[in-house]
Amino acid sequence: MKYIDKHNKILSTDKLFWNKEKKFWNNYGKIYFNLEESDPYKEMLLEIKKIITGDNIVRKKWLDAGCGPGTMIDLILKNRNDIESIIGIDFDGVMLDHAINRMKKKSIVSFEKVDLAKTLSYDENMFDAIVANLVLSYIIVFNDEHVGINALREVLKEMYRILNKDGVLIWTTPTEKVNFNYVFIRSIKNMINPSKLHLLLDGPKILHYAKQIEKKGKIGIYHFIEREKLHNLMLEIGFRGVEIKKVFAGQAYLIKGKK
Ligand SMILES: C[S@@+](CC[C@H](N)C(=O)[O-])C[C@H]1O[C@@H](n2cnc3c(N)ncnc32)[C@H](O)[C@@H]1O
Repeated sequence: MKYIDKHNKILSTDKLFWNKEKKFWNNYGKIYFNLEESDPYKEMLLEIKKIITGDNIVRKKWLDAGCGPGTMIDLILKNRNDIESIIGIDFDGVMLDHAINRMKKKSIVSFEKVDLAKTLSYDENMFDAIVANLVLSYIIVFNDEHVGINALREVLKEMYRILNKDGVLIWTTPTEKVNFNYVFIRSIKNMINPSKLHLLLDGPKILHYAKQIEKKGKIGIYHFIEREKLHNLMLEIGFRGVEIKKVFAGQAYLIKGKK
């Protein structure tokens, strides 16, 4: 039994907390896909696309860890022609339903309901590439044992284990000083689109969820760490050629590393 926040108030066994956490992703999943309309999100996708298309290595097997509504899968399929399979995994049914609907006709895409907070059932060296957009630093307790930055370390080790030699991990995480207001402000002009009036309601709702994520980062439930610490963590795990840059209106780091 461990505390999962830095004020030592929430125990890892607190059922109420876990119910709220589950509901959080479930409710966020109902509107999350609207984020794709926002300029900062689109710009982040462009940067991820550069990495996805950035080398000539054949990468057949892909994993989208915490796939949400399937945005990354769409991006990968549109930008590579060497794909044999993509597996999208997420622990939230609402997010997965969006992704499944979106990819209905793509036979090389499959989905699994998986909790990234546990050792995965995939073999070592199974994937040529893994994407994990705004996911891995939200893993609160890994294998009921590791909390805080140790949970992030363990989930990254798991990504490393299932990657092939020369496999690439592409992931993003909020910065240590994240303030999602900047993303919101830069998205206002996307929200006043007469053909998508629902964005005027859903935009502020997304900000409301994002601010809760920000708060969980501030109290150490999620793990938003400095660029240098991220770099060192990647190297410690064994990743090579680590590159980090700011994306998402300067509020997230995009990290690339090879096994
Ligand atoms: C901010 S969303 C990102 C979704 C998507 N990757 C994207 O590109 O926008 C975070 C996602 O991580 C998922 N997630 C959070 N904790 C998880 C866990 N322990 N296991 C699996 N998925 C998790 C959520 O359900 C949600 O779909």
